[in-house]
Amino acid sequence: MTRSKWASLAMILLLTMGQASLAGPSGARQLELRHLLVQDCGSCHGMTLKGGLGPALLPGNLSDKPDALLVNTILLGRPGTAMPPWQALLSEEDAVWLVETLRAGVKHE
Ligand code: HEC
Repeated sequence: MTRSKWASLAMILLLTMGQASLAGPSGARQLELRHLLVQDCGSCHGMTLKGGLGPALLPGNLSDKPDALLVNTILLGRPGTAMPPWQALLSEEDAVWLVETLRAGVKHE
C-alpha cells in the first residue's frame, strides 16, 4: 500500500472511531431512549423517576454513584432484584447516554 493510501485509511479509522465515542446515539435514537425512559423505566422508577418499585433516578440520587456501576446496572440488571437486564435492547452507548441524561435531570412536559 502506498503512503497516501495508509494515510486515508488512518483518517477513515479516526473518523469512524470518533463518531462512536463522541457523538453518542443519533437524534432519532435519543428520542426513542427518552420514550423508553419514561414508559419502560418509568413503570418501575416512576413516570417522573421519583421512585416506585425501583429507587428514584434523580440527579441527587445518582451523584455519589460511579458511571460504570450505573451503566452495568442498566445493561446487566441487578440479579435478585426487580431490575432487569436491558442489554438485548440497549447498546453500551445507549446506556452511557441514559446515565448522562439521568445525571442532567429529565424534564417532564
Ligand atoms: C421491573 C422494574 C424495573 C424496570 C422496568 C427498570 N428498573 Fe431500574 N431498578 C429496579 C430496581 C428494583 C432497582 C434497585 C435494585 C437494587 O435493589 O439494587 C433498580 C435500579 C436501577 C439503577 C441503579 C440505581 C441506584 O441508585 O443504584 C438504575 C441506574 C436503573 N435501575 C435504571 C433503569 C433504567 C435506565 C431502566 C429502563 C431502561 C430501568 N431501570 C428499568 C427496577 C426496575
